Amino acid sequence: MSDSVLLAGGAGYIGSHVVTALASAGWRPVILDNFDNSEPEVVERIEEITGCRVPLIEGDVRDRALVERALRRHRIGAVVHLAGRKSVNESAEDPLLYFAENLSGAVSLMTAMRNCGVSRLVFSSSATVYGAAETLPVDETAPTRVTSPYGRTKLMIEEMIDDCVAAVPEFSAVSLRYFNPVGAHRSGLIGEVPRGLPNNLFPYVVRAATGELPFVRVFGNDYPTPDGTGLRDYIHVEDLARGHVAALRVQREGPGLLARHQRINLGTGRGHTVLEVLDAFGRACGFRIPRRIVGRRPGDVAASVADPGLAQRLLGWQARHGLDEMCESQWIFQQRHAERLERAPALPHLPVP
Ligand code: WQD
Repeated sequence: MSDSVLLAGGAGYIGSHVVTALASAGWRPVILDNFDNSEPEVVERIEEITGCRVPLIEGDVRDRALVERALRRHRIGAVVHLAGRKSVNESAEDPLLYFAENLSGAVSLMTAMRNCGVSRLVFSSSATVYGAAETLPVDETAPTRVTSPYGRTKLMIEEMIDDCVAAVPEFSAVSLRYFNPVGAHRSGLIGEVPRGLPNNLFPYVVRAATGELPFVRVFGNDYPTPDGTGLRDYIHVEDLARGHVAALRVQREGPGLLARHQRINLGTGRGHTVLEVLDAFGRACGFRIPRRIVGRRPGDVAASVADPGLAQRLLGWQARHGLDEMCESQWIFQQRHAERLERAPALPHLPVP
């Protein structure tokens, strides 16, 4: 059975870590990416980390003919689908953009898989499908209630997968529901480089630590949490990547170990508040992160923590890294990224027309 895996969106933040983990575990990852939210240079850094050459196909997952050529040419045995837009705010401003890109990307990819006889899929889903969970920790039986068009596309793609699994007996899928991925590879060579205004806490903390922002806005301190600030289940991106390798391994071992479409939470089972994150990041960078308490962010839930028991039972996976390591790896990556930017050759001065 082929160890070649096509990663749609494989040059992105999560994707680059999954590619690195797969190559290091002896799989043969192939990257498909349109570089809409990633850089081609990340492939060289993945190869520097792993010592493996990683084929790269520049293109869009919505180009079904391109995907089919890639599946055939590289004799792909499984697909990891990470491509798509992922901003909650942007999706609220432009839901049709999210439906057009995220849903059509999934349709194109699964159609290409069907046409090429590729039957194993791992889908990058999200804990955002649970919305404000009534009980914590959240397990996979918790009701889903999406609170943004972004979350709706994740849930709709999961439901599309249900229908495809029902229609095609050989087709199987694992939807990995990420909690809050943060941190960077221990090498400092790959990590998150958000384009434009970030959405999430960690990129804001980094910008306050570098002085790019004067302080971190803490969205509310009147939640029912230990210190009143929002509580989340942050998971080191390397732990998250290992979860993908485990899912692909169990899928390859054979049917019957997993449901035909298995939904699995990837989280640590531990929650941390915003103030705890700021203090941990302060320990990583050696100085206090400036912060200012402001009002709640509309749509925020007070707390979200995973029950990671199913991942342990079915995949033999559990998170290994704690919050301090997440912050340390993020800070090391940030410093090395800044050094790379300083070393980057200045763009040639083009003659003024
Ligand atoms: C975490 C906590 C904020 C920014 C995201 C999105 C989506 C999903 C992961 C994949 C909350 C607080 C944040 C800031 C703050 N990704 N915060 N000041 O809320 O879980 O949402 O989850 O699906 O990206 O749904 O993560 O990082 O946005 O916020 O105080 O400047 O930090 O209120 O409590 P969240 P987040």
